[in-house]
Formats: sequence, structure tokens, C-alpha cells
Amino acid sequence: MMGCLSVGANSFAPSACVVRMNSHLRVVVIVAVLVQLSGCEKAMRNMYEQPKYKPLAASALWPDGQSARPLEPGVVAHGAGVPAAASSGRRGELPAASVKPPVTLETLRRGRERFDIYCAPCHSVAGDGDGMVVRRGFPRPRSLHAEPLRRAPDAQLFDAITAGYGAMYPFADRIAVPDRWAIVAYLRALQLSQHARLGDVPAAERNELK
Ligand code: HEC
Repeated sequence: MMGCLSVGANSFAPSACVVRMNSHLRVVVIVAVLVQLSGCEKAMRNMYEQPKYKPLAASALWPDGQSARPLEPGVVAHGAGVPAAASSGRRGELPAASVKPPVTLETLRRGRERFDIYCAPCHSVAGDGDGMVVRRGFPRPRSLHAEPLRRAPDAQLFDAITAGYGAMYPFADRIAVPDRWAIVAYLRALQLSQHARLGDVPAAERNELK
């Protein structure tokens, strides 16, 4: 304070005094910040040193001495199953082919109902790809009666429903597995309806068609 008063003749003295006090304050603030920062450094070190296992490290915690635990039942590896088939160019086995249920009239009825709900808006009830959504501008799928699709295995059609196909979005989250198979069964019936031969008709009813 003495220093401030001794320059009293100077009209700038009061502001010089303020500056001087500020510089004291500044030292206090800097010291305080440094103290705080050293605390930060401690906190950061704590984050570096997290208690965790490196992959495949040993551990005394479990009887088998390994930190890596066995997978839960039902876990699907990232590079396997339906998601991998959809994202990697469809390599390998189509997964669900083995669980195809038997086809009954009830299945076909269910499949027709589900097809008309979920598929006909684009593929049309006849399957030729002239659905209402397509008429409004969605990309037109080729006819489900096209030769390659008549020859395609059931699992391929199932997979298209499950994982989607190009512009067509996947239906796995809204059509349950049995219903997907029911739709596939109905698709087969739909295809047959456009390509049936007289020989496919039971002999008893053949004469009516002649
Ligand atoms: C929103 C419109 C839309 C709906 C709904 C839709 N699809 Fe598709 N689907 C398409 C389009 C478009 C393609 C062709 C995609 C491409 O080539 O990029 C396609 C392709 C397909 C294919 C493969 C055809 C091929 O050329 O190999 C099959 C099989 C198929 N759809 C079946 C179905 C079934 C079964 C359903 C109902 C569960 C369904 N789709 C629902 C638009 C749709």
C-alpha cells in the first residue's frame, strides 16, 4: 500500500494501485490453479490405471484361472449368422434352412395373409412387382415369377425376408420365423399358380380343365 501512496502526485496512481493489487491476486490464483492441476494429474493417473484384464490374461478370480469367460448360450459371433450373411456378401450356409416346418393348408393360408400384408404393397398380390408403393415411385423389384426366383432354394427366399435384399428392408424384426416360412410356402404356391402344367392337377379334376 505504501508503494501506491508514494506516487500520489500521479493522477494515474489509483489505477496503478489497482494493477498492483491485481498482480498479487494473480499470483494467488496461479498458485491455486497449480494446486488444483496437480489434483487433476492425480485423477488422470487413476484413469490410466484402471483395474482391468488385458485380453486372455490370467486371473485368480475363476477356478479355470482365465479372465476370458465362456460365451453365454445363444451368443452369435459378429462374423457369423444372418447379420454376417447380410453384411458380407452372403458367404457360407444360409442359417435357417434346417428348421423349415412342414407345409400345411393352414400354413399356406397364414402365408397368404402375411404376404398380402407385408409384401404385396411392393410386390403386388400377384407377385409381379406392380404394388402400390412401386406405383408411387419405389424401385420396382423383378417379378417373383422370374425364372431365377422360381429356381431359387426356399432358404434364399427366407433369407431375403430376414435380411432384406438391396433396396428392400429386412423384415426380421416384424415377421416371426414360422411366418417367414409360411410366406415362403405361399410364394411357392403363387409361383406354381403361374406355371402349373396339366399334369400337376389331380387326375379326377383334369377333365374339368380340358
Ligand atoms: C417396400 C417395398 C418392398 C416390400 C414391402 C417387400 N419387398 Fe421384396 N423387394 C423389393 C425390392 C425393391 C426388391 C429388389 C431390390 C433390389 O434389387 O435392390 C425386392 C427383392 C425381393 C426378393 C429378391 C428378388 C430377386 O431379384 O432376387 C425377394 C425374394 C423378395 N423381395 C421377397 C419379398 C417378400 C417375401 C416380402 C414380404 C415379406 C417383400 N419382399 C417385401 C421391395 C419390397
